[in-house]
Amino acid sequence: MAETMLKVEGINVYYGKIHALKDVSFEVNTGEIVALIGANGAGKSTTLKTVSGMMHPKSGSIHFMGEDITHTESYRLLPKGLAHVPEGRRVFLQMTVQENLEMGAYIQKKISDEDLENVYKHFPRLKERRKQIAGTLSGGEQQMLAMGRAMMSHPRIVMLDEPSMGLAPILVDQIFDIVRELHAAGTTVLLVEQNASKALALADRAYVLETGRITLAGTGAELMSSEQVKKAYLGG
Ligand SMILES: Nc1ncnc2c1ncn2[C@@H]1O[C@H](COP(=O)(O)OP(=O)(O)OP(=O)(O)O)[C@@H](O)[C@H]1O
Ligand SMILES: [Mg+2]
Repeated sequence: MAETMLKVEGINVYYGKIHALKDVSFEVNTGEIVALIGANGAGKSTTLKTVSGMMHPKSGSIHFMGEDITHTESYRLLPKGLAHVPEGRRVFLQMTVQENLEMGAYIQKKISDEDLENVYKHFPRLKERRKQIAGTLSGGEQQMLAMGRAMMSHPRIVMLDEPSMGLAPILVDQIFDIVRELHAAGTTVLLVEQNASKALALADRAYVLETGRITLAGTGAELMSSEQVKKAYLGG
């Protein structure tokens, strides 16, 4: 039986009075790619933020590798192997490209040239711009940088919040290829995507989130052929 890496059970999360996540439960097994799909405002980013300790649930629990991390602070989770690439890139704007990548490796204490070269191999554009201040990169380049930085920490699980957002189609394909490669290299993936058809095609399993509740779960293929999903997320 597959080992559960991440187990979220019945979490309720609020922004003040707004009840953003309602009894949300799901799990990610070691070695899986799990997708979370849903409309704008459904609670996808809130889910990732809660798992990565940026927010905490009022009730319910989160376990990672068997450990209760429900109230663990964000900065303690990366060293445990849980990386989060947030929505909207979040790179260190005043640092150079290479300094940002090096920050990703800080938990290993040593920056490996091999890891840097590996990121640059995937994102040649970052290599050309390695001395450029990240704040002057284009949106798509910042997205690549955020993903490259996560790769530098060799996470057990990487949670990607809409990695293809705002990218040109050719770069979207490239980002999905990189997700595939990360996975092939042994990284477990939790993927939030607007691009439901691409996400479902890639995912072993997926969950649909609607106004804060999980309303559907299944294999990527099952959800892709579900009428409900087709109508709401795959354009008919
Ligand atoms: N900081 C905040 N303060 C108050 N409400 C918030 C805050 N952040 C999110 N919300 C609300 O929580 C709900 C879930 O938001 P969330 O960002 O998780 O949605 P999402 O599924 O990621 O949407 P999108 O696809 O647009 O990124 C929304 O109704 C949103 O308005
Ligand atoms: Mg979001």
